[in-house]
Amino acid sequence: MEDVKDKIKRLREELHQHNYNYYVLSAPVISDFDFDMKMKELQELENTYPEFYDPNSPTQRVGSDLNKRFAQVVHRYPMLSLANTYSEGEINDFYERVKKGLNEKFEIVCELKYDGTSISLTYKNGELVQAVTRGDGIQGDDVTDNVRTIRSIPLKLHGKGYPDEFEIRGEILMPWTVFDALNKEREEQEEPLFANPRNAAAGTLKLLNPSTVATRKLDAYFYYLPGGNLPTDKHYENLLKAREWGFKIPYTTKKCSSLEEIYEYINYWNVERKNLPIATDGIVLKVNSLLQQKNLGFTAKCPRWAISYKFQAEQAVTTLRSVSYQVGRTGTITPVANLDPVQLSGSMVKRATLHNADIMEGLDLHIGDRVFVEKGGEIIPKIVKVDAGIADRGEKVEFIKNCPECGTPLIRSEGEAAHYCPNETGCAPQIKGKIEHFVSRRAMDIDGMGPETVDLLFRLNILKDASDLYQLQWQELARLERLGEKSAKNIVAEVEKSKQVPFERVLFALGIRYVGETVAKRIAKNLKNIDAVRNTSEEELTGIDEVGSRIAQSLKNYFSKDYNTILIEKLKTAGLQFSLDESILAEQTNKLQGLTIVISGTFTKHSRDEYKALIEQHGGKSSGAVSKKTGLLIAGENMGPAKLEKARAFGIKMINEDEFLEMIR
Ligand code: IVH
Repeated sequence: MEDVKDKIKRLREELHQHNYNYYVLSAPVISDFDFDMKMKELQELENTYPEFYDPNSPTQRVGSDLNKRFAQVVHRYPMLSLANTYSEGEINDFYERVKKGLNEKFEIVCELKYDGTSISLTYKNGELVQAVTRGDGIQGDDVTDNVRTIRSIPLKLHGKGYPDEFEIRGEILMPWTVFDALNKEREEQEEPLFANPRNAAAGTLKLLNPSTVATRKLDAYFYYLPGGNLPTDKHYENLLKAREWGFKIPYTTKKCSSLEEIYEYINYWNVERKNLPIATDGIVLKVNSLLQQKNLGFTAKCPRWAISYKFQAEQAVTTLRSVSYQVGRTGTITPVANLDPVQLSGSMVKRATLHNADIMEGLDLHIGDRVFVEKGGEIIPKIVKVDAGIADRGEKVEFIKNCPECGTPLIRSEGEAAHYCPNETGCAPQIKGKIEHFVSRRAMDIDGMGPETVDLLFRLNILKDASDLYQLQWQELARLERLGEKSAKNIVAEVEKSKQVPFERVLFALGIRYVGETVAKRIAKNLKNIDAVRNTSEEELTGIDEVGSRIAQSLKNYFSKDYNTILIEKLKTAGLQFSLDESILAEQTNKLQGLTIVISGTFTKHSRDEYKALIEQHGGKSSGAVSKKTGLLIAGENMGPAKLEKARAFGIKMINEDEFLEMIR
């Protein structure tokens, strides 16, 4: 019989291979379910036999919960930057300089310039031993534990022919889809948005908790082997070898032998880069021969054998008409510039965010100014510059002192960028925003209560806070304009159903500043009921994973307000869940984490609502419509032909109810 040690070894090898097939080759050969089962088996063996611990085991990808500060590591080879160019003329100059410097034939490797955060990995005997950020180029942070969670980075190398010890450099990236989802979540929590995927990737890599890093789905592309002792004396050919060892070496890299070919590459990718899953901000040209690289050498800051060409960020010029201020559900004030409509990167731009008072002040805006708007790596357009040369400028834009909705003087806490309206109970957008958040899908999930209905009921003084939802009578609702008997009854039934929503989602639904879904879950799990949350000290709160002092202070502040305690009492009386149901929690898993699942057709074993609940219980999301984002479709009897066709067109995996139940078993 296979002994335990061999079994662990075999499972690790198999799982490394499956990870590689999935994350590097995008060509999995087993189902996610089978993968999870193997992982579970390995995890259990490792737990039982801790003597076989290996930091590079595939189980370590999920990251540990231990927080630690990063050690500083001096780079063996400094991490230099590249000289930037912005025009074809400068590319010509570079090419001529290389030609003159070498006085022999040479090849140029063209690569994309990936807009993430750079990383240097060290491998010893085919295993990842260290990952260090760029830092100041001389020394950086040891972020090995975080990097281990990135699935496309090989923890153990494939094949053979790699040096006993070597470094490889590349870029850690957050794909656009992950970035958009992360920002959407942050927007819902009124947390500051990441300006671009680069900041999001860099921020994630510096998180102190590797298990949070693991959930952020980072990717990594590699483009440089700085040491000696490499299999060939050509940069491009070494990258091909590194691909065989398991690294994600982009297929967009191309070897060129003339300036014409280089321009062709630039022109092609200047357009096509918009279809890539990750952000790029230019092109890098490198002399292919390592000997020629050596002969050309370095300046103090950059290699002479390479250069980068930066893509022009798309800009447009338009006129600033006014600045308006939005009030969020927690009172955050966001200034927004209203512009004369202008075409930019394929869409019409009418508004641009000004983020906060400091950024607005820095731009020195006057009404009627000609402003430059850019989309670049960001999705929300921003004003980058003002044409200050105009003589008679209009009125200077000053950040408001009072809330635009209720007139209350604004406050700004020390160290915070944002201004707030403190009138939580009397400022209409805050009251409405809190109710909208309360009923939203991920909170109490009260269907049929869209923003218009909330607005209507608020204006009629029927809804003054979330607790009024539990007093609604369908007869009263049915009398209102726009709401018929059917939708009135539906709302009341949905409200009733929400009384079963588990405590952690009720805690999230309260809309406490900085208490997002994940944090609410952690707090609920640790403290178990609302009274414990209220009575726990700030210090003890910060002992909970993911809860920093900012969140702890926000919780203390929330419970110090009488109107919040009164609201909670009313909700308690209405029958909402304010303590943890341990049996439900025990059954929760993250088997379907990150999967958007569509249920279609009729089923025999459970109702559709039960399937929806099962999906959520296991960390997935259920959705009504098939789209490119759909990860899985549970197909029942008599599924609609349109849905079926769409699912086939998108190549979405379809399973029946038995297979689904097996998957979450
Ligand atoms: S080569 C000695 N290749 O750009 C040259 N860098 O300005 C080492 N970058 O810190 C870098 N894509 O973060 C190289 N294909 C690529 C790149 C690339 C992005 C970044 C990298 C580096 C910075 C240099």
